[in-house]
Amino acid sequence: MLSTEQISQIRKDFPILKEKIYNKNLVYLDNAATTQKPQCVIDEIINFYTHYNSNIHRGVHALSQKATNEYENARCRIQKFINAKHSEEIIFTRGATESINLLAATFGMQNIKENDEIIISHLEHHANIVPWQILCQKKNAKLIVIPVNNNGELLIDEFKKLITNKTKLISLVHVSNSLGTINPIKEIIQIAHSHNIPIIIDAAQSIQHTKIDVQALDCDFLVASGHKFYAPTGIGFLYGKKNLFDNMPPYQTGGDMILTVSFNKTIFNELPYKFEAGTPDIAGAIGLGRAIQYVQDIGFDNIIDYENHLLNYATEQLLQIDGLKIIGTAKHKASVLSFSLRDIHPHDIGTLLDNEGIAVRTGHHCSEPIMHRFDIDATTRASFAFYNTEEEIDRLVKALKNIINLFY
Ligand code: ALA
Repeated sequence: MLSTEQISQIRKDFPILKEKIYNKNLVYLDNAATTQKPQCVIDEIINFYTHYNSNIHRGVHALSQKATNEYENARCRIQKFINAKHSEEIIFTRGATESINLLAATFGMQNIKENDEIIISHLEHHANIVPWQILCQKKNAKLIVIPVNNNGELLIDEFKKLITNKTKLISLVHVSNSLGTINPIKEIIQIAHSHNIPIIIDAAQSIQHTKIDVQALDCDFLVASGHKFYAPTGIGFLYGKKNLFDNMPPYQTGGDMILTVSFNKTIFNELPYKFEAGTPDIAGAIGLGRAIQYVQDIGFDNIIDYENHLLNYATEQLLQIDGLKIIGTAKHKASVLSFSLRDIHPHDIGTLLDNEGIAVRTGHHCSEPIMHRFDIDATTRASFAFYNTEEEIDRLVKALKNIINLFY
């Protein structure tokens, strides 16, 4: 596990952690919304725009060659990080949301027919609900939802009963962004495949906290966002098995996704370019590659161990507060603590914590259905990254106790 000294060094890599909020040291506990960026990632982006900004796959000149190489190196880094078989199985997108929309508009439109069923779970982020809901409306198909127990864990036996010969697709979150539940995706993928059903994994909230090996998992598709992985906003990726991508139509059309165009006919480009129309976020992709390298240099196992330690510490400390209730008590969780505090509204808690320089998220966390499952509209959510410390959690606990004193 990372030592206190190592964490102090790591914190120096993230310039924003030196910021003062209302003259107080920033305590950033909103990592599930977006993570902070290390200086090396910021430098990588500055370096691109300062020294070799140019378009990719188009120029014979030196700058374009360099930009193309760095962009493709970033793709290979993602490929190796998630152990995809081929680099062309990695498509750059704006993030997990765009990746799921791409799948709904291509794979979904192509394969879902009238009366078919798509299974999702009660834990999904809106980004893994709404695209399927709209597809079902267009196709007159049905959205089926795996229920959860009172800890926020999927009911696997119920899931098995929901599978019928009408089930044509499963799209499932790996780690719940609002409760932190880690779903047993390996088991679920095996169940899906035993019925020949393709499965999408939403790894937006897991890729930064757990190791992912797409070949070992055997998932058909996987989506993730760079900004939750210490990389810039506006970049992410879609992984898909090559044979599935080969048979899918393009998503957006335009430059770079074509081989030849005439007014009579267009021949689409090969993978991965078929799905990357237009000029992409080149600097973002290179920044994402650098973020992965940064994490690998620290050691992903070290990060995972330390984050688990922080989550356990925070859980113990928060449970000492009279009237605090943790929402989402699954046995396997990652880096997210959602809670209610007596009858104090989460937005009041968020505002009062902000006055102390503590950033948390309050609301439904873009996953209203799971809030309703627990008969609430909102929670306060503290979410951790490996640059957080026990001292910061102590400051959170102290501030929450002061809030109780203010209200009662
Ligand atoms: N999906 C992000 C969150 O959980 C924005 O806060």
